Amino acid sequence: MWLFELFTWLALLCQRVQEGLVSSTSNEHVMSKDDDSLVTVADWSVQAIVSWMLSESLSNQKVSIVAEEDVQTLSKSDSVGLLTAVVNTVNECLAEAPKYGLQSPKKALGTSQILEAISQCNSTGGRKGRHWVLDPVDGTLGFVRGDQYAVALALIEEGKIVIGVLGCPNYPRKKEWLSHHHSSQTMPKMSDTSETWEKGCVMYAQRGSGEAWMQPLIHGNKKHTWSNSAQRVQVSSIDDPALTTFCEPVERANTNHSFSAGVAHSMGFKKQPLRVHSMVKYAAIARGDAEIFMKFAQSGYKEKIWDHAAGVIIVEEAGGVVTDVWRPPPGLLKGFVLRRS
Ligand SMILES: *[C@@H]1O[C@H](CO)[C@@H](O)[C@H](O)[C@H]1NC(C)=O
Ligand SMILES: *[C@@H]1O[C@H](CO)[C@@H](O)[C@H](O)[C@H]1NC(C)=O
Repeated sequence: MWLFELFTWLALLCQRVQEGLVSSTSNEHVMSKDDDSLVTVADWSVQAIVSWMLSESLSNQKVSIVAEEDVQTLSKSDSVGLLTAVVNTVNECLAEAPKYGLQSPKKALGTSQILEAISQCNSTGGRKGRHWVLDPVDGTLGFVRGDQYAVALALIEEGKIVIGVLGCPNYPRKKEWLSHHHSSQTMPKMSDTSETWEKGCVMYAQRGSGEAWMQPLIHGNKKHTWSNSAQRVQVSSIDDPALTTFCEPVERANTNHSFSAGVAHSMGFKKQPLRVHSMVKYAAIARGDAEIFMKFAQSGYKEKIWDHAAGVIIVEEAGGVVTDVWRPPPGLLKGFVLRRS
């Protein structure tokens, strides 16, 4: 499945961009959007590459992509430095595509082709037809802080999610490291000489297969050619509330922490919540590193489809349940994602 290859490679791209960001004090590659959310070179680069790859691979079909970023900010005259960085990142990355068995363009893409690829992701989706749903970097705040973030893509057909891919470039090998805030200080740093330190994974699921797969990212070997070494993942089998770990968003703006603490108390949970940025929370549920994900947003909050779709199918195919608070399944279930909608 080439989406697996594509996401492995995109996750590695994001790591490189993130490491550049984290080690430099300059923030010229981070911008605030009109809604005060952040956007970086990685967001646009990943969106351009996924859009280009999907159009190339599915050239005989009309590709509808619903994605987070638009080109307005990037096309502004004061964003020339940013645009140049995106063009360079995209081309550097595309040049390595053949290592992952993917096609690269015959020659480097020009600025206008890259802007076109980004702006082509302007579909509004809907219940009819086939739509790709992309969040190039979910959890940009986590990304900028050197913490957790995800690259997420889902395919929706006639209103049903049929494929989900989730790249989690910073997912630690040991689940204990997930709970560390400012992980760049507490997690071991990958050094150029280390060939053994591993972080990051890509998860994949297809509707109805009853299987979710995880491919670890491999580091350190420049000559490495990608090969599929995916393992099946399943939700946790813990059903004792005292042993249950629940995760929730880091930011107060995205959930009501005191409300979830109340729910946790009434359910008899004893452990501290695992607060993690981005859709990595769905990955944690699918891998069985946590049992429950709860999110209670303020009324009026609207979840974006790209922040949810890929995670839903991966959790479901890994054996979990995803629901809103109005239709909870009976009893306490394993691999449970609960949200107020
Ligand atoms: C989306 O962008 C393409 C150009 O990339 C344009 O032709 C099309 O009209 C746009 N569609 C919408 C719905 O804005
Ligand atoms: C969060 O939940 C607590 C406990 O249920 C409640 O008292 C508070 O009003 C809620 N805050 C918001 C902003 O909704």
